[in-house]
Order: sequence, then C-alpha cells, then structure tokens
Amino acid sequence: MTISIDFSGQVVLVTGGASGLGFAISEAFGRAGATIALNDRSPDRAERAAGELSRAGTACRGFSADVRDAMAVRSMVDRVVTELGPPAVTVVNAGIYPNTPFLELPEEEWDRVLDTNLKGVFLTCQTVAKALVSANQGGQLLTVSSGAANTAFWGWSHYCASKAAVVMLTRAMALELGEHLDEAYKHAARTSIPIGRPGEPTDIANAVLMLASPLTDYMSGAVVAVDGGSSSGRTGVRPKS
Ligand SMILES: NC(=O)c1ccc[n+]([C@@H]2O[C@H](COP(=O)([O-])OP(=O)(O)OC[C@H]3O[C@@H](n4cnc5c(N)ncnc54)[C@H](O)[C@@H]3O)[C@@H](O)[C@H]2O)c1
Repeated sequence: MTISIDFSGQVVLVTGGASGLGFAISEAFGRAGATIALNDRSPDRAERAAGELSRAGTACRGFSADVRDAMAVRSMVDRVVTELGPPAVTVVNAGIYPNTPFLELPEEEWDRVLDTNLKGVFLTCQTVAKALVSANQGGQLLTVSSGAANTAFWGWSHYCASKAAVVMLTRAMALELGEHLDEAYKHAARTSIPIGRPGEPTDIANAVLMLASPLTDYMSGAVVAVDGGSSSGRTGVRPKS
C-alpha cells in the first residue's frame, strides 16, 4: 500500500509564514496540495511571501495581522474563514527571539517577546478554535515551541520562559479542546482520553511509519507520545459551574 500525504482541498493557516520556518512549512503543505492562508505581521510581508508561493504553483493567499493584537487576529481569522473556509490545520509559528542578558533586559522587550510568543499563541488558537466550534468542524492546532523550553540559553530568559509556557498552554488546550475539535469524541463511550477514543494499533503503526519516513529525518532523540493526548492531562475533572 502506498501512503501519500495529501492535503488537497484543505485550508492550512500558518502564522509568521513570510520567512524562515513558517515559509518552509507553508511550502511543504502547499506541495501536499493544501490551500495556504499565509499570515505575517504586515501586509507587505504577507503579500510578498504569498506571491512567491503562488508563482511556484501553490494556492496561497496573504492575510496580515499582528498576532499580539486580539482584534487583528479576529479579523484575520474571519477573513480566512469567509474567503477560504475554516482552516483544517493551523500552524501557530510566529515568534521572535531577541537576545539580551537578563540584567540588561528592558521591560518593553520582555513584554514584546511574551506578547508575541505566548499571548499570540493564545489569541490565535482561541480564535481559530472558536471559529471551528461554531462551524461544527474539526481541526488541528500545531504550536511551535523550541528546545529553549527545556534548556536555558544565555540571553534568552524571556524566550525560554515564553516557549516553556507554550508547551503547557498546548497541553491545556489539548485537554479542553479535544471534545470540540474531534468529531469521534462525541460518539465515543465516556473516557478520560482527551481525543475521546481508545488508541488502535493502527494509530501507533501510523506514527511509527511517519517517524521512520524521510519526512522526519531531522528528528533525533525525541520522545513522541502517541496516546490521544493522555500525557497532556485527563478530562473528567472540571470545576463545578
Ligand atoms: N529558527 C530556529 O532555529 C528555531 C528553533 C526553534 C524554534 N523556533 C521557533 O520557530 C518560529 C519561527 O522562527 P524562525 O526562525 O522561522 O523566525 P523568522 O524570524 O525567520 O520568522 C518569524 C516570522 O514571524 C513573523 N512575526 C513576528 N512577529 C509577528 C507578529 N507579532 N505577528 C505576526 N507575525 C509575526 C515575522 O515577520 C517572520 O516572518 C518561532 O516561533 C521560533 O521561536 C525557531
């Protein structure tokens, strides 16, 4: 059996898609047939990168918004949903990493890094998740953290703190959003697995296949949980309303 990675007909939103990893991620999803909604902080940057991908044959549109700004994020997601449809995949990638020694770190730079790397992730994920829930459509939110979440780097106290927080925010979102974003959850027996169903042998086989494939050649020494989100936390324990 041949397995192909095919995102034809699916909308993929990538924040911070105008350069670096975000551009490469947009290109990769484009090659897999997706329609790309490419976000970046200014119209110039978003349009230039979207134009480059379009000329290379990818269906791609630019959608500018500063991910630190709640109203701008709302308006960007509204435009994506109206013009292309709800995103099946959202890659929450926009981030900055200025390097400044802790003793010299100005409050303004601390705020800028945390607002972009953490609040930006919160705003993007919450806005997209609300749009998916109201469209009654499932979807995937993929956040981009960093090795700096686990290992401290000189001059990066703000960056390390922001990326560690992104890991925990992602786990908390997995716990709360599973029931909304995964259609199978609604039909599954009561379970504490965030994805809403027990794992099948094929779930593990598919993950092993992906990890063994050339697509993940740059992964090494990584511990990957294929557990329906269980290692993020368990559902069923909620405050009384
Ligand atoms: N490059 C690496 O080696 C590396 C390693 C680990 C994690 N990361 C993470 O990957 C992500 C991308 O990093 P990169 O190296 O490609 O950086 P980059 O600077 O090349 O690209 C980041 C993009 O995000 C955009 N951006 C910045 N602030 C924004 C905002 N407020 N709103 C919207 N867009 C904004 C920028 O304009 C830029 O196009 C970041 O979250 C970074 O922390 C990068």
